[in-house]
Amino acid sequence: MTNDLPTSIIIFGASGDLTQRKLIPSLLNLSIKKRMPGKFKILGFGGTAFSDDQFREHLLKGAREFASFKFSDEEWAAFAPRLHYLQGKYAEASDFKKLAEHIAGLEGGPANRLYYMALPPSLFPTIVDNLNATGQLHENGGWRRVVLEKPFGTDLASAVQLNQQVHKALNENQIYRIDHYLGKETIQNILFTRFANTIYEPIWNRNYIDHVQITVAEQVGLEHRAGFYDGVGVLRDMVQNHMMQLLTLVAMEPPASFSASHLRNEKVKVLSAIKPMTPEEVAVNTVRAQYRGYRQEPEVKPNSTTPTYAALRLFINNWRWKGVPFYLRSGKHLAEKQSQIIIQFKEPPLAMFPMQAMKPNILVLYLQPDEGVHLRFEAKAPDTVSETRSVDMEFHYAEAFGKTAIPEAYERLLLDALQGDASLFTRADEVETAWSLIDPILQAWEKHQSPSLAAYKPGSWGPPEAYDLLARDGRRWLNEEASMMLDK
Ligand code: BG6
Repeated sequence: MTNDLPTSIIIFGASGDLTQRKLIPSLLNLSIKKRMPGKFKILGFGGTAFSDDQFREHLLKGAREFASFKFSDEEWAAFAPRLHYLQGKYAEASDFKKLAEHIAGLEGGPANRLYYMALPPSLFPTIVDNLNATGQLHENGGWRRVVLEKPFGTDLASAVQLNQQVHKALNENQIYRIDHYLGKETIQNILFTRFANTIYEPIWNRNYIDHVQITVAEQVGLEHRAGFYDGVGVLRDMVQNHMMQLLTLVAMEPPASFSASHLRNEKVKVLSAIKPMTPEEVAVNTVRAQYRGYRQEPEVKPNSTTPTYAALRLFINNWRWKGVPFYLRSGKHLAEKQSQIIIQFKEPPLAMFPMQAMKPNILVLYLQPDEGVHLRFEAKAPDTVSETRSVDMEFHYAEAFGKTAIPEAYERLLLDALQGDASLFTRADEVETAWSLIDPILQAWEKHQSPSLAAYKPGSWGPPEAYDLLARDGRRWLNEEASMMLDK
């Protein structure tokens, strides 16, 4: 069994932010929870000069600052000896020979290897080629897997090219394209809500659902990432990946099983049922906006048209969803951090009670923060003849499972990659299909500047144009505060 072999995790981009903030704290926690493979080692590879001890010091500092859990000195002391470092250049074939020797020396025999690319995608092909040329991808004795961080390409053509490049050296089943949203408990819970219960599925369709709203609002701005973000923008950073994943989980058919191929087949089917927009459709079904003051941010071009906010109106053309609008929005510097999916059901067909307010039922999946599920329904107001009042049935993770119940998304994803479960990773065709929907929007936005770039106040809920997008359909964004705080 190759799973009994020692396991090496080799991180490219090991001196960077992601390693320090997310990867190492997650691996540390998995190790504390005794979920890591028995004999594992972590080797960081990067441009910075570190000795093993300096690397450990740097990571300890990061874990102390960024880990979402408490750990003791003893726990760190048990973990730290597993950490190693090798300085090298990603384009230097001779450095990959050194890497091969170094790992082999640490492993001392056959071993499994997980290569993690915690760096920009432009470097993936070079690294994969160098690993391949030095025999480090051959599955002679143990498995070889590669985790690729987002963004996976910058448009459809670059994603297709990237897939072709990595497929030259790797089979698709060795590739784990990460989208950290899929590692979030509440996002996995979308599938549990739908498929571990019987009450929702019969009404989860166009006969009962009026529309769906998916919001991923961020309070933070660029957080010193302007160099990366400017020119990339919200469509590539949030919509093509995270928002599209949320959409597929809400809209997909029940898979035959939770295996990676069944699950991912269903997700691709949803994406394939959305018609890419024509430029005219982009003009009316999308809103692009930039927060005021963005162009004055350090490292942002003074005439930048990079959008920091997007709202889209999409339709899924299949039997389940035909005619049901899906409204998506995401932006930086909004009023609060709030990711949620709102399912609005249809109104009752008849107002039976004279004083009945015609309010539709609403199911809200709160993804973050205050993770939970709310169901709004109508109840008779006491001591009235026939007035109704909206009331909420609520489930909160923190109440039901305790404050520390939600682990870091990367923990689950790293563990799944180590165990060879690709269900929560995106497949080549899934990434490309998502890009095929985003590409026409990007082109209309970037080439034709259509629709024109709207502006919103930092700390608001976005531009008035996003409110109009729903108002035209006689609807509104459903978080009450949101519509009140719109930058009108
Ligand atoms: C990342 C984006 O993928 O997701 C960031 O690049 C964004 O711009 C982040 O801030 C949001 O993730 P989370 O987990 O804070 O919702």
